[in-house]
Amino acid sequence: MPQMPEPEPGPGGYRLMRELISKQPRLVVFIILLAFLGPLVTAPTPYLGKVIIDDLIFRQQAGGAPGVDAVFGVSSTIWMLAGIVLLGVLLKLLGTIIGGWQSHYILQITRNGLYDVRVDAAERVMGTPMKTLETMSPGKVASRLTNDPNHVDGAVFTILRSCLTAVFTVLVVMCFMLFLDPMLTLVVLATMPITALLSISWYRRLRHFSREESDRSAALSATSTEIFGAIKVIRAFTAERTFLRRIRDRSEALRYEGIRHWTVYHMVAGLLGLLTSLGADIFLFVGGVLAIQGKISFGEFFAFAGYQGMLWGPINTLLTTGQTVQVGAASADKLSEVMASEQEPHLSRPAQSAPVAFKGEIVAENLRFTYDGQDDVLRDISVSFKPGTMTALVGQSGSGKTTLANMILGFYLPTGGKLLVDGVDVRQWDLRQLRENVGVVLQDSLMFDDTLRSNLTMGRDGWSDEHLWAALRAAHLEDVVRTMSEGLDTRLGMSGTRLSGGQRQRLAIARVFLRDPKLIILDEATSALDSETEKQIQRSFDALMVGRTSVVIAHRLSTIFRADQIVVMHAGKVVESGTHEDLLKKADGRYKDLFQAQVEGMVPMSGATRHRGAPV
Ligand SMILES: Nc1ncnc2c1ncn2[C@@H]1O[C@H](COP(=O)(O)OP(=O)(O)OP(=O)(O)O)[C@@H](O)[C@H]1O
Ligand SMILES: [Mg+2]
Repeated sequence: MPQMPEPEPGPGGYRLMRELISKQPRLVVFIILLAFLGPLVTAPTPYLGKVIIDDLIFRQQAGGAPGVDAVFGVSSTIWMLAGIVLLGVLLKLLGTIIGGWQSHYILQITRNGLYDVRVDAAERVMGTPMKTLETMSPGKVASRLTNDPNHVDGAVFTILRSCLTAVFTVLVVMCFMLFLDPMLTLVVLATMPITALLSISWYRRLRHFSREESDRSAALSATSTEIFGAIKVIRAFTAERTFLRRIRDRSEALRYEGIRHWTVYHMVAGLLGLLTSLGADIFLFVGGVLAIQGKISFGEFFAFAGYQGMLWGPINTLLTTGQTVQVGAASADKLSEVMASEQEPHLSRPAQSAPVAFKGEIVAENLRFTYDGQDDVLRDISVSFKPGTMTALVGQSGSGKTTLANMILGFYLPTGGKLLVDGVDVRQWDLRQLRENVGVVLQDSLMFDDTLRSNLTMGRDGWSDEHLWAALRAAHLEDVVRTMSEGLDTRLGMSGTRLSGGQRQRLAIARVFLRDPKLIILDEATSALDSETEKQIQRSFDALMVGRTSVVIAHRLSTIFRADQIVVMHAGKVVESGTHEDLLKKADGRYKDLFQAQVEGMVPMSGATRHRGAPV
């Protein structure tokens, strides 16, 4: 396994945790008070033992016990003993209650804070530009919203609960010890600095292993999500073994890292326990010698034994929780990266008011675009789509039609030239407002595991059932939905599996009818429909397109014939534009080639099929 340079959790990690804690300063002060009060309440208990031994038992045995009169037939010494024991029990009970209280308030901070973090992170991801989003796997994004906040929660809880209580316990207990015998205290704590130094260096190494393990775990989760999401195609191509091997390889890496990380962790924890318990052994010897020599009383020896016993637990906690805090910090760092991630430009600007009446005029001036910063996918495109007209975009597969359509929606911003919508540069548009005015049927009709109703409205309220039925009717989907037993409230299943491909596409079209937008973009919307349905939909579209601008990435001659303008794309360029008649007049025109190929061979005008003999 290659050794990677150790990734440090960036400053963002600790900053996020600090912010989380400092959001509720009053509660934090209260928690600190409780953390101090807890040990303070329980710390006197070993001292009570000293009082019992020195002041009650030994003095009684020596005959000098205070008050020998019996109350209710029981000696007052026994009464005092009972009182002291009861006090001890009450103090411990109080300590437990304080601890519970402290946990409750810490959870108020962490769970409320992380709720905000989750929601904020989701909002940031929602606003991340497509270009960046495409580099993140859905598994990775899911992990940001689930695992990472949990790790941060664990870390903050550990800091406020275990660490804080441990620090105060050590301080209070040390005060009692120093009060009992300063010299003995120093002897008992002699091994501390070495243990602390060793633990710091070991945990630094452990942090690296822990990060490796969590990265492997995230990789396994991303791979599984992708594979099981595509189970149909895997089964159809009997590729189960290949993909299972991928999961096995990822699991193998995770297994290796898990064994390495946790073996080292348990060894380190065991060694630290051993080192700290050495302090106890030193006490037994030195304290024993002092007691034998009569330099400390037996009661003091007993109390001291109790105190040093109380000390090792918290010290161990302090030495071992570094791990949890580190894991949390690494997760917090990833979360703060999400929080600081680049957003679509309009999100960081004050909201603008929409133009009074959206016309849907689109003008591209020397528009350039590249996905990867190297190869231009759109090159010097200059074209205009007039309000109220229909433009058919045609061209071979990969010529950039979908890319151009996506740019009108502001999914990607120009890397050169200009794209104006209603005379305003898309870079300046409030993209939410722009998208409100655009109705889109994307190349893949994506559906959610939800009701048909919410897939149609996309979760927006305010439409009556009549509106919804009208939209379904316009998209020729009404009859299908009427036969469903639960009608509009039928659940569509994962990715809308309950619908056929053509039905999904018509539902996507119904979404546009419902929105009633000024600008319509259709990306190969009619490709999965039979000719009868297609005809009906064409009619609906004709009605819908009246008075609106529409851009149709067209395959069918029937669509293209109706277009006011045909724009022919090739390798990222607009090579021809005009009406069907104009373009056919051009000798050696690309449109003419495409058209003839379609007429001769029934090949679609655009999309995956390349026309025979046409130069590429
Ligand atoms: N998200 C993306 N990231 C990187 N490259 C992309 C991305 N989307 C498309 N491309 C590339 O950009 C080019 C144009 O793709 P585009 O989807 O615009 O083609 P198209 O004309 O719509 O093709 P089709 O008719 O097959 O849908 C292709 O070479 C493709 O590989
Ligand atoms: Mg396309």
